[in-house]
Amino acid sequence: MSLLEILEFPDPRLRKKALPVNKVDAAIKQTIDNMFETMYSASGIGLAATQVNIQKRLLIIDIADEEEDPNPLVFINPEITVIDPEPYRHEEGCLSVPGYYEFVERPTKVLVKALNREGDPIEMEAEGLLAVCIQHEIDHLNGKLFVDYLSVLKRQRIKSKLEKEHKQKASA
Ligand code: NI
Repeated sequence: MSLLEILEFPDPRLRKKALPVNKVDAAIKQTIDNMFETMYSASGIGLAATQVNIQKRLLIIDIADEEEDPNPLVFINPEITVIDPEPYRHEEGCLSVPGYYEFVERPTKVLVKALNREGDPIEMEAEGLLAVCIQHEIDHLNGKLFVDYLSVLKRQRIKSKLEKEHKQKASA
């Protein structure tokens, strides 16, 4: 397994739209394993392939508490339908927007259809944090970030601060 580089906002590659996975083969499984290692190492609870510069419709989630056993979830070619559109407000963060947490509203309950790590079809109803995560990660596959839900002013402020950090890192 190996750690993958996580792209950070405002990297334009985060705006690419991911393409469907045609076949769940050994290469995809290797990508999934690398993504889990990368996500756990960064203490994240979700990661979309787009964030590691892979333009495939693939995302992983693990929202288990640190004390609990890991509960790795894999969604390949995920599609969601809203079951309950009532807005659910949650403070979101993102490994591609490190250090920033902001409230975002999303539908409370969704139905997600996807393929699992074995390539078998799965169907799952999700609400609360899991619903937030799935919607946040599917946004990534469509080139969208949680900062897009914020005011222009807030987004600009986060962008300038991160750009400044990236410059400092590059010259260090
Ligand atoms: Ni994210």
